[in-house]
Amino acid sequence: MQKINNWEWIDLAETGSTNDEALHLTSGAKGHKYIVTAQKQNSGRGRRGRGWVGLEGNLFMSMAVEMEPCKWGQAVFVVSLSLLETVRTLFPTVDIKLKWPNDVLVADRKISGILLEKGEGGYLVIGIGVNIKKAPQIEGVIYPAVSLAELGYETDRITFLKKYMDIFDKNVNGWNTCGFGAIRQRWLADVKGLGCEIRVRTDKEEKDGIFEGVDENGLLLLKTNDKTEKIYAGDVFFPR
Ligand code: BTN
Repeated sequence: MQKINNWEWIDLAETGSTNDEALHLTSGAKGHKYIVTAQKQNSGRGRRGRGWVGLEGNLFMSMAVEMEPCKWGQAVFVVSLSLLETVRTLFPTVDIKLKWPNDVLVADRKISGILLEKGEGGYLVIGIGVNIKKAPQIEGVIYPAVSLAELGYETDRITFLKKYMDIFDKNVNGWNTCGFGAIRQRWLADVKGLGCEIRVRTDKEEKDGIFEGVDENGLLLLKTNDKTEKIYAGDVFFPR
């Protein structure tokens, strides 16, 4: 096993899903932090039952870390903010935005995806896919995808991973010492559509309203008529 900062890191040639590999590592583990990456990922999972296409050269990574479940809702904001800051550090002039709950958009197209899953014994598995070299061109996706390379931003999965881990570790330290407030403020400063009309598609329905922000647990605050509703999970769309 190699190391990145104080994480144990396994880089596989090929796997079905790095999240499955990381989930497997959590069984019987204690006091360790793991990163699993793969050069090829053949059956990646996405949010809400969707898949994640594994194009070569892209980053497929999963972190396994012990964390109290009450913090998991906030963790996704630390993860996505750290992704944004990594891209911005590597490419300072990039046009980049966040989209609730956990997407990162470059030039208004999706470059990454995040999938949180519950491991064993208090472990959280954080799966991240980043379109470094290529992006899937699939009809009917909920948000069009792009890769950094297609926009002229050249890097490779390992350079990106190491920069990401530096930034993520720093942000986790800040979160642990100062709380979620500062992370939430920084996240809101770069989110798309704050204060604007949005549409949210949940499992049950679609709702239109004004995107007012996120609460202390990361739930979306949507102003509809005269009340503010809290949305737990869903996909956000922006009217053209
Ligand atoms: C999304 O739907 O936007 C989330 C996609 C998450 C994909 C990543 S790729 C690495 C890790 N392994 C998986 O099987 N999924 C995540």
